[in-house]
Amino acid sequence: ESSSFLRNLLNNAKKEHIDLVFPTVLIICGSGLGGIASRISEDSYSIPQSYSEIPHFKVSTVPGHAGKFVFGKMNGTSVVLMEGRLHSYEGYAIQDTVFPLRVLHELGSIKTVIITNAAGGLNRKFQACDLMCINDHINFPGLAGLHPLKGPNFDEYGPRFLPLSDAYDLELRKLLFRKMKELDLKRGLHEGTYAFASGPTFESRAESRMLHLLGADAVGMSTVPEVIVARHCGWRVLALSLITNVSVLDPPASALDDNPIPLDQGMASHSEVLENGKIASLDVERLIEGVVGEL
Ligand code: 6GU
Repeated sequence: ESSSFLRNLLNNAKKEHIDLVFPTVLIICGSGLGGIASRISEDSYSIPQSYSEIPHFKVSTVPGHAGKFVFGKMNGTSVVLMEGRLHSYEGYAIQDTVFPLRVLHELGSIKTVIITNAAGGLNRKFQACDLMCINDHINFPGLAGLHPLKGPNFDEYGPRFLPLSDAYDLELRKLLFRKMKELDLKRGLHEGTYAFASGPTFESRAESRMLHLLGADAVGMSTVPEVIVARHCGWRVLALSLITNVSVLDPPASALDDNPIPLDQGMASHSEVLENGKIASLDVERLIEGVVGEL
């Protein structure tokens, strides 16, 4: 019902926008990275005004993110942008957070998804405002049973036992690094493993150490459920983390220490996440625009 609603809206819009083509690329924006919408051609169309108008859609509770689809051309390619995503920490079942992807899949035109997020850096080589191209993930909630594919399998979408050993498309990752060079962007761009933690708290020091020890380079509260469903839909995946802060790996101040380090040193905060998001977001926009132009 949701997808035929969306399809009808698109077909109606087609009468007014002669060059409307169903999108081949889906872009999902992370915290503070919604500016990518400005890279969509001026005759883009928001359909509908808000997710809440689409049957069965849940609405994001994160302030300032009512959430909507923006359809249009970016660098010559037909795209749809998801402005505002659902997070499981808002209280949704993990299956509900990926419902918009299932609906878009019904359009039948999407081949590639580009996902961005804000993440904490666990790898000691990473600095705030660096970027990380995700090449693998650790799905902590998923390993414990909070998994987007849990329940009856939709065989018409994909297999019951979906392999994820090569979920992050190598050619797309190569393209991202090439674009970074071509655009001469000075920001650090790394490659690594993203750990999905459900949030909404930032990790404790011991949790950050544990994730680091297990091989994660960055940690965040999104993306992995979307990647899994995208692979189940057969889409190619490119995922990019903006490292908004470096996680604290040192143990806390000791009560037995006469000169303890200040308690809030290096503490992650949402304002830091948004501030640093702003600083690096222009490069992320240019990078994604460049990649999309080649798809
Ligand atoms: Cl430090 N942790 C998590 N889970 N998500 C984040 C983050 C940290 N920084 C930005 N997003």
